[in-house]
Amino acid sequence: MTDKIDIAFGPLGQAGQGDLVVFMGDDLALGAPARDALGGAGADLVAKAAASEKFKGRSLSAMVLPAPAGLPIDRLVVVGLGSNTDRGKLDWPVLGGFTASKVSGRTARIVLDLPGVATGPEQAAAFALGARLRTYTFDRYKTKKKPDAEDKAGTSLTILAADHAAAAREDEGARSLAESVILARDLVNEPPNVLYPEEFARRAGELTKLGVEVEILEPARMRDLGMGALLAVAQGSVREPRVVVMRWNGGTAGEAPVALIGKGVIFDSGGVSIKPGGGMEDMKGDMGGAAAVVGAMRALAARKARCNVVGAIGIVENMPDGGAYRPSDILTSMSGQTIEVINTDAEGRLVLADVITHVVRSAKPKAMIDLATLTGAIIVALGQDIAGMFSNDDGLAEKIRAAGEATGEAVWRMPLIPAYDKAIDSKFADMKNTGGRHGGAATAASFIKRYVEDVPWAHLDIAGVAMSSNASEINRSWGAGWGVRLLDRLIRDNYEAH
Ligand code: BES
Ligand code: MN
Ligand code: ZN
Repeated sequence: MTDKIDIAFGPLGQAGQGDLVVFMGDDLALGAPARDALGGAGADLVAKAAASEKFKGRSLSAMVLPAPAGLPIDRLVVVGLGSNTDRGKLDWPVLGGFTASKVSGRTARIVLDLPGVATGPEQAAAFALGARLRTYTFDRYKTKKKPDAEDKAGTSLTILAADHAAAAREDEGARSLAESVILARDLVNEPPNVLYPEEFARRAGELTKLGVEVEILEPARMRDLGMGALLAVAQGSVREPRVVVMRWNGGTAGEAPVALIGKGVIFDSGGVSIKPGGGMEDMKGDMGGAAAVVGAMRALAARKARCNVVGAIGIVENMPDGGAYRPSDILTSMSGQTIEVINTDAEGRLVLADVITHVVRSAKPKAMIDLATLTGAIIVALGQDIAGMFSNDDGLAEKIRAAGEATGEAVWRMPLIPAYDKAIDSKFADMKNTGGRHGGAATAASFIKRYVEDVPWAHLDIAGVAMSSNASEINRSWGAGWGVRLLDRLIRDNYEAH
């Protein structure tokens, strides 16, 4: 749903109608291209208006002015950049998102020449990325659109930049990345009656158009493989589960892939250990990990990433039913390890266990990252602005931390110690599926660790960040599409031949 915004590029002096956007820092100085676009009268108007409107040029503040005399524009929008020192760490997508919100539903020229900041093609594309992400809303099921909504359709931006041709080329990548994040957002926002496992698998299957090899495993095949843990979770639902394996082979033939694994519980009622009713509707987002993996595979394929990546997602619905699995059941996972079920609401780790075993054994990855809305405990620990990371490999953990810092999808490393592993020992089986109330995110991570064998691995618990997301300058959607940009960046910076 990027059709709400249209972005073009042009040279700094390009004339036009509609709104004009210029930038200034807290020194209230306009750059030369902005002054040229405004003319002398315009520059005077900006100075006077700043004084009377108490516009201080603070970062992410804006002043909207009527057209200066003699300029054939509708409105003049001045966006603040903060102090010179702040500008060194300017977040381009955030600036783009903020700016887009000020000209929503309108036609605007944006003079992307920021006084005191390098503004090359890469920065222009990052700005455009933020503008696209900000403009997304999930309104497929609204039969009446609100006329005063911030996200009005028909926003048309022309970004005026020094090297506009190069910026436009760079923007092809940004546009595709935005579409991949938006794919993940759509998947998270869709309700489970529409997006049941088979339909989720079908949508992932559309990646074949971009050259991704997609294999969809049905229950019979899962039974042959011995996926007793995943199948147990699915057995209370009338919807059949699916496992989708996506392979992007853009690297050297035969080179070990990086594996991305996603939890795809399309709805988590808790099963027999049913959740309280209040807020249960949020559990349509329990497939945020799988959505991030599908979005990342799309991003990698669209830009023909030079690496081998396998994405695998387990898609199930967790429901209570006469045929549902129950506390005290003992399951045999594909790895051969047995699991005593204590709580049917600890289902995500059961799904991940079998998908991980399948990938470890069939693809022999050189690194593996799983993403899962796994525990409420990680939200208690870290809140909704940062994901929890558990890893058996310091090098991989650092790469992920750095990628998250670069894209603004922050992760914080959490500990894995023997005590957590001990907490999931079972009286009757090799392990149990919960480790008690204390350290819930960590005992869940320890459970997954028992399936990764010797692969360098990181687990991202994204329960706090993937859904019910805080509004930001680049996201107004319930499902943020968290992780797509992080994974794309991680692979670009560390696993591709350049
Ligand atoms: N999907 C939930 C975790 C979750 C909670 C995600 C809130 C997003 C928001 C997961 O399957 C779950 O139910 N976890 C339980 C584990 C417990 C039974 C050991 C939890 O966190 O309470
Ligand atoms: Mn659950
Ligand atoms: Zn769940």
